[in-house]
Amino acid sequence: MRKRVYIGRQLPQEAIDILAEACDYRMWGETDITVPREVLLREIADADGFLAMLSDRVNGELLEVAPKLRTVANMAVGYDNCDVPAMTARKVLLTNTPGVLTETTADLAWALLMAASRRIVEGQKLIEANQWKSWSPMFMVGQDVYGATLGVIGAGQIGSAVARRGKGFDMHILYHNRKPNLELEASTGAQYRDLDSLLRESDFIVFLAPLTQETHGMLGAREFALMKDTAVFVNAARGPVIKELELYEALKKGRPWAAGLDVFETEPIKADHPLLSLPNVVAVPHIGSASRRTRVAMATTAARNLVAALTGQPVPNPVNSEVLSD
Ligand code: GLV
Ligand code: GLV
Repeated sequence: MRKRVYIGRQLPQEAIDILAEACDYRMWGETDITVPREVLLREIADADGFLAMLSDRVNGELLEVAPKLRTVANMAVGYDNCDVPAMTARKVLLTNTPGVLTETTADLAWALLMAASRRIVEGQKLIEANQWKSWSPMFMVGQDVYGATLGVIGAGQIGSAVARRGKGFDMHILYHNRKPNLELEASTGAQYRDLDSLLRESDFIVFLAPLTQETHGMLGAREFALMKDTAVFVNAARGPVIKELELYEALKKGRPWAAGLDVFETEPIKADHPLLSLPNVVAVPHIGSASRRTRVAMATTAARNLVAALTGQPVPNPVNSEVLSD
């Protein structure tokens, strides 16, 4: 019997081909719109596998209506959209897409860092508004990146890739992580700091730890107040790792000096959100991994994980691998 899978979004053909060869599939046909919950709950009812987007919530409600569901392949490295304990309790395997998006996401974190520190978006808006009067000594001055101190919160694969790029800018590198990353220390000279020290000492603070119970709301008013009044903060992880309205208040007071944000508490963020009224905020719509090559690699990785799990082959990227062992 061919397994049935539901695909939560229109995927690149390369990924569909992998699934079609081994499984019967149905797919939400839209490219830019999340599958409505009622459609998902209906479609998942007789599925063995689900290829999910990070905007699809895989929780008790979904597991309840999908008694045959054995595997969820999340097309993302982060999986905070999934209730892993509930999945494990029902022996539903979760897979993710680590590795393939590391460098692409590190590039985007750096794009935000550079854009916020050199006021790139503000400058373009100013030109578009016909506000550029002349070259002036102290006009649109920003912060130096070269030779500054870079603090990375979350020294996993992506955080390490961000730190490595800092070496090209002759930066002094600090990091905070659950545990020391000796490889990163050896390859970049990075030094471990407790969170408060990292926030006090860094000129650039880049958040790249996954969203978990421990990181939820990790940075708020107290932490922003520890930052320098010249510091640039970048969040390329998940919105809820910071207290967003407290970041807004902090940026309004000028500490940190600016922020570059790829992720938000509620996505999509609405145009009238207070953060977007600030000139010292650069915001992009959760595009960390969005290069063509990487998105195809993520989709094919998710497809391969799903097919492997449903056909009893070794699964490349299991998250709750204890499901496989019993
Ligand atoms: C994107 O945010 C991902 O987790 O892959
Ligand atoms: C963590 O952020 C990772 O790179 O997997």
